[in-house]
Amino acid sequence: MSDKLLVLIGSPRRQGNSATLAEAVRRGAEAAGTDVALRFLDDHLTSFLRDCRTCRGPDGECTINDGYRALFFQEFLPARAVVFCSPIYWYGMSAQTKAFFDRCFCHYAASSPDSQGVLRAMAGKRLGLVLASEETYPGATLGIVHQMQEFSRYTHSDFVGVVHGVGNSRCEVRHDPADCVGQAERLGAEILDRRYSDYRLDTKRASVVWPGDAGHAGQ
Ligand SMILES: Cc1cc2nc3c(=O)[nH]c(=O)nc-3n(C[C@H](O)[C@H](O)[C@H](O)COP(=O)(O)O)c2cc1C
Repeated sequence: MSDKLLVLIGSPRRQGNSATLAEAVRRGAEAAGTDVALRFLDDHLTSFLRDCRTCRGPDGECTINDGYRALFFQEFLPARAVVFCSPIYWYGMSAQTKAFFDRCFCHYAASSPDSQGVLRAMAGKRLGLVLASEETYPGATLGIVHQMQEFSRYTHSDFVGVVHGVGNSRCEVRHDPADCVGQAERLGAEILDRRYSDYRLDTKRASVVWPGDAGHAGQ
């Protein structure tokens, strides 16, 4: 797996709010020396998932004829980190973003020729989520955050951060007083090495999280 970051934009708006935040993720990552690729899902996906029984070829390969396969195999699977940038549509992620997740089934299902290799490559990534919405209340994001959390758990990935930008007209997130653009830059800069923890009962750990706070150890 390369140390590359893939930024996927799930909005059809080229100069929209998800794209503005995705560009900020890219800026932050590039400033930190990370190799980044940024892609609009609309350029690669033209179909939803279909019934695999009707559309697998004789060799078991998916026959949906669009750019998903290339995006998935050449950019998603090799990436060490992926940041999904989506507008909030009806309190969920955009259909483009959801279709990206659904379509990976074509390649990891047991009926696909290299499903084991695909499953191995899907695992262990560092994942980030960037959302743009008109409404400000945190509840609007919860369904999507939960879905990403479950995808991360299922794939043994690290869900390292969420940025929620508020805006409606194109690029309006730049005026969000919570500085979501700055937060997105920071997510990009830190995506490969931001501290991530998800303990279990038996996780061995120090009593402090941040080494600089060692003076308070034992409290
Ligand atoms: C079909 C549709 C559904 C939307 N649903 C919501 C919603 O449920 N909650 C919300 O806060 N904003 C909603 N919005 C507003 C967008 O999330 C908002 O305009 C966002 O900034 C768009 O991001 P984009 O510029 O990347 O497309 C909706 C917009 C559209 C077009």
